[in-house]
Amino acid sequence: MRPLFIAGNWKMNPNTEADAVALAEAVKAGVGQDHAVRVALCPPSVYLHRLDSALSNSPIGVGAQNMHPEPSGAYTGELSAAMLVDVGCTHVILGHSERRHGLGETDAFINRKLHAALKAGLIPILCIGETLEEREQGRTEAVVASQLDGSLDGLEAEPMAGVVLAYEPVWAIGTGRTATPEQAQEVHAFIRGRLAEKFSEAIAARVVIQYGGSVKADNAADLLARPDIDGALVGGASLKAPGFLGIIEAAR
Ligand code: G3H
Repeated sequence: MRPLFIAGNWKMNPNTEADAVALAEAVKAGVGQDHAVRVALCPPSVYLHRLDSALSNSPIGVGAQNMHPEPSGAYTGELSAAMLVDVGCTHVILGHSERRHGLGETDAFINRKLHAALKAGLIPILCIGETLEEREQGRTEAVVASQLDGSLDGLEAEPMAGVVLAYEPVWAIGTGRTATPEQAQEVHAFIRGRLAEKFSEAIAARVVIQYGGSVKADNAADLLARPDIDGALVGGASLKAPGFLGIIEAAR
């Protein structure tokens, strides 16, 4: 019922537009016109416009890695939702742990971004997940529930169905230490249950929940086989086309 959705978060890579376009074109060639799996690429913002052109006539979406909640104004270095739409974005990653923990983003701030993204017609990919310390203290569900409550505050049921969630345990990001499929499924099921309580069973059943954290071509199939894991938000392994295409293949 839920389409699998594989997104590549390139983070602060690569360092040249030529390399960004080459990577996008290689992914485009591998995906072809296959709509069976939803795919999006989230490059650094300076490449968004160029990637929108490179990915024309392709089902691959283009996502930004961040945005500001205000529509315009004196916010040096920031980008508005309207700017992202204007350069061809379909998606935007919000609340990534590298921004929550590295740059102090709060759920309240992320919540304002979420509302602004939806108003502009962007599909938010909202990231949540616990640190290793929080997991070891047995606080995974409490942390994830609190992030959901804060980030989704004021959201109506129908728009919620269009939000993509990405469960990314911080301890699994860029570490090579993937959550086991059982660990990931357990938290995904908890998240869906929380959505059912907050919205409804029907809405919860429609929300796509990606897993993120050291996903690679050789571990993707096991993760994606779990009933509540609806895709992957891929960092390191999205930077080489064969590896990323291998993850898409695992989703087919
Ligand atoms: O947004 C992607 C995640 O942070 C996962 O990154 O695949 O390099 O662990 P990773």
